[in-house]
Parts: sequence; structure tokens; C-alpha cells
Amino acid sequence: MIGVFDSGLGGLTVLKALDQRFPEHSFLYLGDHANVPYGNRPSDEIVDLTRAAVETLFRSGCKLVLLGCNTATAVAARRLQQVWLPGSGWRGHNVLGIVAPTVEAATQTPWAVATPQYPQKYNSDLIAVFGTTRTITSGVYHEEIRKRCPRVEVVQQICAHLAGAIEDEATEAELDALVKAGVDGLLVQTGGHPPHRAILGCTHFPLVEHLFRRHLPPFTRMLSQPEVVADSLEDYLARRPHYTDCPAGVARLRLLTTGDASEISARARIFWPEAPAFVHALVRRS
Ligand code: DGL
Repeated sequence: MIGVFDSGLGGLTVLKALDQRFPEHSFLYLGDHANVPYGNRPSDEIVDLTRAAVETLFRSGCKLVLLGCNTATAVAARRLQQVWLPGSGWRGHNVLGIVAPTVEAATQTPWAVATPQYPQKYNSDLIAVFGTTRTITSGVYHEEIRKRCPRVEVVQQICAHLAGAIEDEATEAELDALVKAGVDGLLVQTGGHPPHRAILGCTHFPLVEHLFRRHLPPFTRMLSQPEVVADSLEDYLARRPHYTDCPAGVARLRLLTTGDASEISARARIFWPEAPAFVHALVRRS
């Protein structure tokens, strides 16, 4: 059973892609609705919240947890993988993030290859990254893309209130205004040059991809994060099939929330109409 964590409902965009790609595997999703949005919180708090959520998923039987959230990945993944996990007593368990597969897809370079290689060495595209405050200020997309493609220009744009507005079911006009403000902010940074490629670096943003499309020219290629994450997980699991083991008698797809389960189940419909109902879960923060 594989755990998928997000601050709220955005990770459902990833879970839906995984559900379609791996109909034979079991997934347990946890949305931290008691604390969403994470995007403008201090980094230490995001690390604490993410660690507590990961432990809850481990305790529930997941040996592998995917952080289906850019903010949690950008801020907490490295610290959890390199500092917390080795001393935590959770032997045989692992945490993955969604920045690495996105960078791999954007640079056409495997994550393990952290130096420029021909032909990507000479790639001089302009890549836009839209994300929450904390994802963008972490600088992780900029750093990891430029390591592999030093000639690529990476322009990052904070969309501070977009994830919260999607989560709160803002109107299409309100969402359109927020997306337009994000694209305008990007174009100010680039001197009016539209990007060749755009990374919607927040799992909530695929829900407003059509609005990004509306404000970006047709030649801007949009990278579909749920798809690239599914591709990458497929490759990962092919080499580590034991992570898909599932306790007998457990439903294949279960959704947990730290918020009000019936309210969240109703709101989840805009993300994934066929999603099963959420169940309330307690996450202990030590
Ligand atoms: N889903 C999160 C992400 O991908 C952001 C939402 C939040 O701010 O909590 O960045």
C-alpha cells in the first residue's frame, strides 16, 4: 500500500493519475485539512506537519509515502529523507517527493545525473515555474533545473493565494483573476517574453490549467505533473515491487482527512468526482 500526502485536496490530482496508472495497487491518501494551506507557512512548521503526516501513513501500513504536494516536497522532503528517516526507527520505509520527477521531465535528464549532459547542456529554453510562496522561495526548481541545464532560464512566479482559493471553491472569475495576475507577474519578470514551457508547480493548479492556457500563448508547453509523477513511480516500483504490498482485506483506495470528513468529501468532487468518501484521521504532532 502506497501513501500519498497533501496539505489538502490538491494531491488528488496526483492520486487520480496513480489510480488510473496502477489499478492493481492500493493507495491511502491523507489530506491535512486542519492545516491547509501550507504554502505561506514557515518552513519548520511545514517540516513538522509533513513528518507527522508521514508517520501517520507509516503507522497505517504504508511502507512508501509519496508527498503529493510541491510545498511539502520543496521544504521537507530532503530533511525527512536525509535527517529524520535514517534515525526514526522506520526501517524499510521511504518518502518520495514530486519535485524530482518534475525536474527530470522538464530537463529530460535523470535525477541521478546532476551535471549538464549533451544535448540538454545547450538547451536555452525559458521555463516558467508557478507555485506557492514556500515552493518558490525554496528555490528548488530553479536550482535543480539549472544544475542540469545551465543555459535554461528559469523564471519563478509566486501565486500566493491560488491554492487556497481553489481549495475554498472560489468562482471561475476569481480564479481567472488570480491566474492572470500570476501570468502578468511572470511576464513582468521576463520583459514580456512568454515561456517555452510552464511547470504548474502546485498540485492544485491542474484544476485551473485551462486558465493558465487562456493567459499563455499556444506555443507554451504545459508540463502535466500528475502524469510525470505516475511515469516516475512506475519506474521506481518496477525496481522495488515490495512497496506495493498491502495488508489483506483493506480497500484498494482510501482517503483520510484531518478535517471534517463529510465536508471534505463534498468538496473533493471538484477534484475527482469518482473519489471515495473521506474518513477522519487524527495526526499526532510530537
Ligand atoms: N498542494 C500544495 C502544493 O502542491 C499547495 C497547497 C498549500 O498551500 O497547502 O504546493
